[in-house]
Amino acid sequence: MKKTFIIANWKCNPTTLKKTKTLFDSIKKQSNKTKKGNNEIVICPPLVYLPTINAKPTNIKLGAQNCYWEENGAFTGETSPLMLKDLKCKYVFVGHSERRKYFNETDEKINKKIEAIIKAKMIPILCVGETKEEKKQEKTQQILKTQLKIALKGVKLKNTKLCIAYEPVWALGTGKACNPDEAKKINLLIKKIITQLYNPSIAKKLPVLYGGSVNSKNANAFIKEACMDGLLIGGASLDAREFSKIISSI
Ligand code: PGA
Repeated sequence: MKKTFIIANWKCNPTTLKKTKTLFDSIKKQSNKTKKGNNEIVICPPLVYLPTINAKPTNIKLGAQNCYWEENGAFTGETSPLMLKDLKCKYVFVGHSERRKYFNETDEKINKKIEAIIKAKMIPILCVGETKEEKKQEKTQQILKTQLKIALKGVKLKNTKLCIAYEPVWALGTGKACNPDEAKKINLLIKKIITQLYNPSIAKKLPVLYGGSVNSKNANAFIKEACMDGLLIGGASLDAREFSKIISSI
């Protein structure tokens, strides 16, 4: 049975360690009451909180929202994949649109990060998606093709795990999620691009997730109707009850 990924992106929240612990404990408590089925629940807090939140004894996994590509050295302010691995991170996102927009994260930098995350034996979650303007100009296909092609350049996927998250920039934090029919088309488009870059068997196995204004009312449609392999959840993951409603809804 295929895993369904439910990934919480806390972004730059909460603002204190106390609030972080309260939120995490509450998610732990709620998720213990919820049937998890074959769900892989992943919490991605700000890096600074990673060592202090303890996912045991639940089966919640930890992830990071970013990392650098070098293992160590004179790179002030950066966090290396080896450090994240040591803190028990299983997943690391790369290419989130907020990092592309505010921190100049290019497809070439994303490519280096993916290689480094795989080398450190963690699983990259590659975020791709078009802006509102690009959608208006009907450039979605071209944008996704370029983002995937450059980010995955030279990346061997045969025995490597990787997830792709389709996050249309216009849907993030807006309350206006993508229509499940449209998300299904994009899911197929991503599989087609991966088939062209690799082969059909890799495309078939590669989990494609959806992110952008997911809540407990629309979550199920992205899994059942759009055939997504999981969800990347921002705002709704900061509310433990809403987040567990999402888990139980799918
Ligand atoms: P949102 O964010 O659920 O608040 O739209 C998702 C994300 O940015 O990953």
